[in-house]
Amino acid sequence: PQRRITPGDIRARKGGTPLVCLTAYTTPIARLVDAECDVVLVGDSVGMVLHGLPSTLGVTMEMMILHGQAVARGLERALMVIDMPFGSYEEGPDQAFRNAARLMAGTGAGAVKLEGGESMAETIRFLTARSIPVMAHVGLTPQAINVLGGYKVQGRGADADRVLADARAVAAAGAFSVVLEKVPATLADRITADLAIPTIGIGASSGCDGQVLVVDDMLGLFSEFRPKFVRRYAALGDGAAAAIAAYAEDVRARRFPAPEHVFGDGE
Ligand code: KIV
Ligand code: NA
Repeated sequence: PQRRITPGDIRARKGGTPLVCLTAYTTPIARLVDAECDVVLVGDSVGMVLHGLPSTLGVTMEMMILHGQAVARGLERALMVIDMPFGSYEEGPDQAFRNAARLMAGTGAGAVKLEGGESMAETIRFLTARSIPVMAHVGLTPQAINVLGGYKVQGRGADADRVLADARAVAAAGAFSVVLEKVPATLADRITADLAIPTIGIGASSGCDGQVLVVDDMLGLFSEFRPKFVRRYAALGDGAAAAIAAYAEDVRARRFPAPEHVFGDGE
């Protein structure tokens, strides 16, 4: 009988076999990734990947709860982590607790993730002291796109110390793990060696304690979005486009439905 992976289990994997993490937004994908993943993230990337939004800024609590509920129905083993959407936690610890509790109670997630380093340390401390496990997220934080001025690599050159300080701050505040997004590999390795909690890289380094990717990106589903840090393990969007074209041709030529797809008049 498989036991559900906990935030404590993830923390204990520091320095061990790399943690396998993917996003999921729906029940069928959650079912597919559950067997292989230690952590399944209901990312706010759902807004861009499934809803066609131009950034993650328009993602709402209601969207996160709906997708979180769908993912929870597909998971048995993996730890489910759910992103706190933009605007749901930045005001301060009280707002963050209220919305984190709503996300967890409303979906059954085992932890929340929020973006930010030193500026979020107080909030992370407040949540973890009140039984809400927090995964942190530093480096490129997409909710800060308007101040970062694009989805650029963070922590190059003299900026490395800022990202390291952010990572140290969230670890000291009680985060059980931290996502490092789009930072130089040398910096990711330095942070990984420095922290006592697992680092989970995306566009970071193979030396991180784990890796995460957006599942639609690595499956090559529909997206024109092909950042350097994504390896495409399949091109399912191409297969889907070909299938849709074949269906359209069959309908126009009256080849579909075929006799086996239609019902007779008798019993
Ligand atoms: O929203 C998301 O998918 C994420 C991961 C890529 C880390 O935050
Ligand atoms: Na996210």
